[in-house]
Amino acid sequence: MLRFNRAIARPNIVGNRAYSIISVHRDSKSDNQDLPFEFNSENIKRAEAIIAKYPPQYKKGACMPLLDLGQRQLGFTSISVMNYVAKMLDMPPMRVYEVATFYTMFNRAPMGKYNIQVCTTTPCQLCGSDGVMQAIQDHLKIKPGQTTKDNLFTLQEVECLGACVNAPMLAVNDDYHEDLTPEKTVEILKTLQEGKELTKIGPVSGRESCEPYSGAKVLLGEEPTDIRKFTRSDL
Ligand code: FES
Repeated sequence: MLRFNRAIARPNIVGNRAYSIISVHRDSKSDNQDLPFEFNSENIKRAEAIIAKYPPQYKKGACMPLLDLGQRQLGFTSISVMNYVAKMLDMPPMRVYEVATFYTMFNRAPMGKYNIQVCTTTPCQLCGSDGVMQAIQDHLKIKPGQTTKDNLFTLQEVECLGACVNAPMLAVNDDYHEDLTPEKTVEILKTLQEGKELTKIGPVSGRESCEPYSGAKVLLGEEPTDIRKFTRSDL
């Protein structure tokens, strides 16, 4: 599940921890204005459907979903993606740069195939995210903000991803893996390194969702209430 996280103003390096992919643009071989970008035919249709949700004078509201489409197509949010979206929405490019560099979901550098985002905010940290982060660094030999040489993994340290009740957790691309231990984390990485799919997402502890570890306490075997019994039939 994709969440929009506000980037927190902070230096790229705090102590000895490198933070997520920096947002300052520097021309490079893989990211400069001379590299053409446009949506493929599938994404053109998606973009048109997204833009149609907004009144014409407010179509800039589609900025974030279109940037996301561009990132999914190219693999990261390059300056060409931003310029293309700006043109499509009749926005000054600077307005799009502001959005793309504010939200940490937009990656401003080429990413590995698997974007590993480890939450280290307080609830996750209290439940052991330091151990999870260390296990990843030891196993992949990279630090936050870096990509493995085989381009398989990019590691990021992120703020709360909204699954605190199942802390500690990490995201692999759009999927969450929760209730982690260092050992379970390395198992996940090894599965991906073997080229296999992660068949189970969510808690790795045996919990189904966020019920207590001692077992579910409510809705035990009961059929969910049919809400139509209590509402107007035409609703
Ligand atoms: S603190 Fe880690 S998901 Fe909320």
